[in-house]
Amino acid sequence: MDTFRQAGVEDAEAVARLHADSWRRHYRGAYADAYLDGDILGERVRVWSSRLAVPTGTVTVLAEDDAGLAGFVHLVVDDDDRWGSLVDNLHVRLDRQRTGVGTDLLRRAAAAVVELAQTPAMYLWVQEQNQSAQRFYAAMGGTCVEKSPIESPGGVPDRLVGAPVKLRIAWPDVADSALRRGVTDGRHAGRIGAVSAQLVQAPDQPGSGNCESESDL
Ligand SMILES: CC(C)(COP(=O)(O)OP(=O)(O)OC[C@H]1O[C@@H](n2cnc3c(N)ncnc32)[C@H](O)[C@@H]1OP(=O)(O)O)[C@@H](O)C(=O)NCCC(=O)NCCS
Repeated sequence: MDTFRQAGVEDAEAVARLHADSWRRHYRGAYADAYLDGDILGERVRVWSSRLAVPTGTVTVLAEDDAGLAGFVHLVVDDDDRWGSLVDNLHVRLDRQRTGVGTDLLRRAAAAVVELAQTPAMYLWVQEQNQSAQRFYAAMGGTCVEKSPIESPGGVPDRLVGAPVKLRIAWPDVADSALRRGVTDGRHAGRIGAVSAQLVQAPDQPGSGNCESESDL
């Protein structure tokens, strides 16, 4: 059975491992092989250690099963004045994909938006080549509203293959979307409520809105 909890700094390495593995499996063709086959684990450990040590204005929820970390979602509350809170990362372990973990995590992100954010809007960026994730977000009621160039990880130009594009997927009101409806009548009904007991503190101030430079998918 899956359990869900708020991540702490002690989870940084496990989250980084799943994140790096997921990038290597799913981001080839947009991120350069040389970059993906390099020390992205070390880079991810540094990013997650920093994020989880100072989680102000963010929510990171872990899904766990008997094998360990099954997936995670990272939300930046009130990131953008127009588009709302940013789902900066959502990754499910390969052997658990298509078993409802992504749905459960995205619903928890939506619940956190309802509980913490100043507006009910939520959004994320997905790589144009990542068709599977786009089908998932469509199933979750998200709408593509914009295309934009992907910025190279760390701002280093040769980490991209050509000029890949990302899509902005938006939920103008999570409380009036497939995510919210699922709380009461979906196949995962009743499994969303625990988030309020686990949340970190609300943000001191809204984010910069510069989602393209902040988001690392
Ligand atoms: C994309 C991702 C987060 C989805 O999570 P998941 O747990 O696999 O998805 P779920 O099992 O909750 O799927 C819910 C519904 O979404 C749709 N869906 C999900 N994956 C799909 C796919 N590959 N093709 C078509 N539809 C899909 C289906 O309607 C599915 O319901 P069903 O299985 O009853 O048909 C996960 O597959 C993942 O981590 N992928 C790799 C990393 C990634 O791309 N992350 C997103 C970065 S923006």
